Amino acid sequence: MEKRRILSEVALGDVPPDTIIKSGTLFNVFTREFLKDQSIWIKDGMIAYVGPDHDPLKDVTTQVIDAEGMVLLPGLIEGHTHLNRTGIEEFVRHVIPGGVTTVVMETIDLGLIFGKEGIEYFLRGLEGQPIRFYYTVAPLCGLTPSEEIKALKRKEFLPLLRDPNCLGIGEIYWGNIFLKKQGERVQKLASLALDLNKRVEGHTAGATGKKLQAYTCFGVSSDHEPITEEEVMERLRLGYWVMIREGSVRKELPGVKGVFNKKIDFRRLILVTDGIDPEGFIEEGYLDASLRTAIKLGVPPEIAYQMVTINVAEHFHLDHLLGSLSPGKMADILITPSVGEFSPQFAMREGKVIFKDGKATVEPQKTAFPNYMFKTVSIADHTFPPLPHKGKVRTMELVTDLVTKEKIIDLENPEESRDMVMLLALDRVGQGGEFMGLLKGLGLQRGAYGTTMSWDTIDMFIVGCDTHSMETVIRRLIEIGGGGVYAIGDDIVSEFPAPLCGMYSLKPMEILRAEIKKLEESLKRNGVRWEKPLLTIDTLGTPAIPHLRITHHGYVRLRDRAVLGLEV
Ligand SMILES: [Fe+2]
Repeated sequence: MEKRRILSEVALGDVPPDTIIKSGTLFNVFTREFLKDQSIWIKDGMIAYVGPDHDPLKDVTTQVIDAEGMVLLPGLIEGHTHLNRTGIEEFVRHVIPGGVTTVVMETIDLGLIFGKEGIEYFLRGLEGQPIRFYYTVAPLCGLTPSEEIKALKRKEFLPLLRDPNCLGIGEIYWGNIFLKKQGERVQKLASLALDLNKRVEGHTAGATGKKLQAYTCFGVSSDHEPITEEEVMERLRLGYWVMIREGSVRKELPGVKGVFNKKIDFRRLILVTDGIDPEGFIEEGYLDASLRTAIKLGVPPEIAYQMVTINVAEHFHLDHLLGSLSPGKMADILITPSVGEFSPQFAMREGKVIFKDGKATVEPQKTAFPNYMFKTVSIADHTFPPLPHKGKVRTMELVTDLVTKEKIIDLENPEESRDMVMLLALDRVGQGGEFMGLLKGLGLQRGAYGTTMSWDTIDMFIVGCDTHSMETVIRRLIEIGGGGVYAIGDDIVSEFPAPLCGMYSLKPMEILRAEIKKLEESLKRNGVRWEKPLLTIDTLGTPAIPHLRITHHGYVRLRDRAVLGLEV
């Protein structure tokens, strides 16, 4: 209150501001105007005045920044993302140059292994960083109840939800909300979030018609899964904030760009990354890269800028603080060369300069995790269950790099059993349990690859042509505390150690990129035909993607969650 009273005195010209940014072309997110010769007066990290240039009261400490010929924008807000194999520090370091000052982070992976405790450690890492973090609490939707053992109970969920930095419950896979027991759990969490005026984040890949409407009845108000113009429109009409994803997992802008030619209200469109991998960070950037793509594809810059500022802020009930350059808001301000060229030269968060002249002026906060979080790969006895040599069996076939389907094949038919590898799902937190399935269409010709970075499950997945190589991979993954390993026989060909919870590496981004590149190249050299083989294998157990998935209990058919074996 006192702070806002002083701000008003600055606006009146009675108290000098700390900083004046003058003579810029200012983007007004409310009217979509680019207004020339504008000033912003800043006091105590907040904006006091925005308007035509005139000379305010100054004192010796008042800093003046001349933005003549440049464009002033609010700091960007990323509305939905995940860490993608990187630690928090490296993430922050690579987010700053792109002009993102606020990030809404999903909290799935540490939660998967350590439940509430994992999420709390993760949140500690997000505190005190030079950029601002908010988060959503992961509902931890798994394929079957046994993938949800670490999911938060109501009493664990409630204190997090009351945290002002928590904006709601994270993405709920639509199929999960309709399940008997698993569904009731997330339905309760969703209504709890709504009771506290927080958001329920959606995930509606492939949902349509009545199913989509039924899902929406649970209070879900955002979705980052639409991949066609029609899907975007269907969701907009149902009142969703539609988050168009343009990141490392998928790039949807080219497929949905037709939406921007329609005569509709764009204020419920948001642009998000849903996660950027080390290669993406180094080669293209973060949300700034997505924004540049949008503008390049013909999205009018003023609409594109609204999608990463005010629209996101309004969705998350943050527009009283963020998303605009107007009085009483946080002084999160970017300076970029021109309207159509998004390339921040200067970034400020709450009045403090965090990026200038091509360099960050702040260092990320060091993040610390307890030792036991680096020792999470524990395999009970396993046997490599023998595979039949004849007859018909059930396999999982890759239809795209992510989508799979159930395929029954005759093992005695050489054509049908072509391009097939073993696929072992192994509980990797020491509870025991394994299932040996078959994967068709990967392309791997030699050796074995294994990962602990699997989405939405505590299973390690190992794809392999022979059990000797598979054993080498398992042994190595235990030794390095998790990640991804490719081996042929006794030889480790390439690896990506991700020792934090078996999910993340804390090394510098350049090293991560080089390690992943080497691993992907060695897999492709040995036959794998998919562009991002690590992603293809990491997603084999997620209920987020259709149609047949795998756990250490067996295959799981997503449609009815039937657990199926090899036998037909
Ligand atoms: Fe996501």
